[in-house]
Amino acid sequence: MTDREHWQERHALRPERTAPSAFVERHVAHLAARAKGARALDVACGSGRHTLLLLELGFRAVAFDHASAACRRLAAEDKRVRTVVADADALPFRAATFALIVQTRFLDRRIVPDLLRLLEPGGALLIETFLVAQHETTGHPRREFCLEPGELERLCRGAGCAVHVLECCEGVVGAGRQATHLAAIALCKV
Ligand SMILES: C[S@@+](CC[C@H](N)C(=O)[O-])C[C@H]1O[C@@H](n2cnc3c(N)ncnc32)[C@H](O)[C@@H]1O
Repeated sequence: MTDREHWQERHALRPERTAPSAFVERHVAHLAARAKGARALDVACGSGRHTLLLLELGFRAVAFDHASAACRRLAAEDKRVRTVVADADALPFRAATFALIVQTRFLDRRIVPDLLRLLEPGGALLIETFLVAQHETTGHPRREFCLEPGELERLCRGAGCAVHVLECCEGVVGAGRQATHLAAIALCKV
């Protein structure tokens, strides 16, 4: 089974939508004050927990995922969302289209330069995803989809575009069975 088929099956079961990330909520609320009506992209949107948050805050939300089941569910739930079935490998968007890009719990190191290219000057990128400690403690996700300590900031600073890092943090988020090892970065394209 390919990775896409695996996700397609999971989304077809319509998993419960979890709450938005606290890191994303905090930064997006702040950005929304100056970017109402601007275009925002949710990368590998899954259930669309952040797409819906972006809409609520007044952004024009665009969401993509390679699993068509995820996009169909989201588009059916809210007609304002523009969903695109696409692989992160071949992003079907023009340069400088988005004021905000959110990517959570998904990692493809190769696309960081593309994400920066899709941002308008002054636009913001928020990434939050798993650290290797998550793989080491739970076996999930696969190691190659997890970040080494310090790697997220290095990836963003080394992506060939001047950026201003607003916040970068790493650690355990949540408690008990929800505890998850995550790295997160919020930055602006200069
Ligand atoms: C763990 S889920 C995270 C979903 C969402 N970002 C969130 O935080 O709730 C990972 C998502 O990435 C999508 N995905 C995995 N590989 C992808 C790729 N190469 N291109 C586009 N989407 C991909 C999966 O279909 C799945 O919806």
